[in-house]
Amino acid sequence: MNKDTLKKSNTDITAVSESEKQREFMSLVRGLTSDTAKRKDRDLTACVVTFGCQMNERDSEKLKGILKECGYNLTENEDADLVIFNTCTVRENANDRLYGRLGALGKLKKDKPDMIVGICGCMTQEADEVEKLEKSYPFVDLIFGTFNVYKLAEILYSRLVSGSRITDIWQESREFVELLPTERKYPFKSGVNIMYGCDNFCTYCIVPYVRGREKSRRPEDIVDEIKRLTDDGVVEVMLLGQNVNSYGKGLEEDISFAGLLKELEEVEGLKRIRFMTSHPKDLSDELIETMAASEKICDHIHLPLQSGSSRILKRMNRGYTKADYLELIRKIRDKMPDISVTTDIIVGFPGETNEDFEETIDVVRKVGFDSAYTFIYSKRRGTPAAKFDDLPEKQETDKRFNKLLEEIRMASGEKSGNLVGKTMEVLAEGVNTHNESLLTGRLSNNMLVHFPGSKERIGKILKIKITESKGFYYFGTEV
Ligand code: SAH
Ligand code: SF4
Ligand code: F3S
Repeated sequence: MNKDTLKKSNTDITAVSESEKQREFMSLVRGLTSDTAKRKDRDLTACVVTFGCQMNERDSEKLKGILKECGYNLTENEDADLVIFNTCTVRENANDRLYGRLGALGKLKKDKPDMIVGICGCMTQEADEVEKLEKSYPFVDLIFGTFNVYKLAEILYSRLVSGSRITDIWQESREFVELLPTERKYPFKSGVNIMYGCDNFCTYCIVPYVRGREKSRRPEDIVDEIKRLTDDGVVEVMLLGQNVNSYGKGLEEDISFAGLLKELEEVEGLKRIRFMTSHPKDLSDELIETMAASEKICDHIHLPLQSGSSRILKRMNRGYTKADYLELIRKIRDKMPDISVTTDIIVGFPGETNEDFEETIDVVRKVGFDSAYTFIYSKRRGTPAAKFDDLPEKQETDKRFNKLLEEIRMASGEKSGNLVGKTMEVLAEGVNTHNESLLTGRLSNNMLVHFPGSKERIGKILKIKITESKGFYYFGTEV
């Protein structure tokens, strides 16, 4: 990092708390953007491109909030005055996609030398990737990580006054900086981080290395944030964490995830609560009971299986067996017969035999998932599984992958006819992308429904009669 520049700029700052300090940096950047805008005789634009999961989506809303406060008009167009790529590194193809996009941006910047390009997110927490970016992508101006997203204005200010690249990567989170502006994608729903990081170290997974140790936010801070969101029109929240079921670990107060949900149930104006991701090894009976008794928690659980083979699960360090998983599903369905269950599955993990794979198929058939995200195992540098050298043949993995897709398609197709004729609550989320006379909304079980309606209904929870099932989505009419 360019320390001299930061010291110089810090002398202008009088704030006591970190969030006040960052707000002062936002106002300093606003001064600079406003000068440039006058010189160019037009407003400056900024674009944030997001890869990866909902954690990154939420971080991008924070980045956008800061950029707006810094005087930029937000745009979806990468031909902007400032572009930030918020990266994901969970699988190799996520990295490949980023470098492809970055190459294109480099060409654009040749014609627009004033353009500022930033890279942040999970990829920049890997030292080798930062080295590659610094060496081979000289046009990148800002490189920062997952722990200092809130510092964007300060980093940008340093770049603008110094004219040189700023690299600022931390190895751990230092403090939670709350109360900064965010720019939500939807006015009526929002992600809310309840915890950061992960301590589970599944042997294939890079997340614990790039997101750091698991840290829960204090319940009162979460409740406050959600109250502010509902005051601002939010009716649905998605509580975010890599393993929400272990929420509370390390906090001063003794609180479980179920305990947090009970507190959130009381928040006035909040109509729907979702969460992800639940790790099967930490899903408690208390959580099942809390979900079953709740008016607000949605009828959906995302419960990553990863593999149906107990032998492979052990090698993945998942902490449960095939029988444990099936028993958990039985307990959940016993209390909530209509709940929709979705999952993540990895195919082609080192050492996976055809018998192991058939165990996965067996779980898919027994559970009948409503939908599943399926991935081919991708070797990640620095993870324990990267040392396992018994990868199945690629051809074999591809065959298994296709068979798995087919099984999942059959299972979810069978289930989705069940709702036709029922009247259900739907949160209207937007205009249908293919037919403007229709709105698209979401059922409590997370499935989409398309129905005739006008724009004014967006953001409201409506009663919709389901008239037709299309497998992965429905048609309906408002009643
Ligand atoms: N914390 C969540 C998952 C985060 S990553 C959980 O424990 O379920 C999202 C999904 O990506 C994982 O569930 C897993 O299925 C997949 N994934 C993670 N690392 C992977 C890898 N190296 N190769 C293939 N898929 C992977
Ligand atoms: Fe990765 Fe496992 Fe943590 Fe999920 S629980 S983020 S899969 S290490
Ligand atoms: Fe990707 Fe980071 Fe999420 S690696 S999946 S963006 S936590």
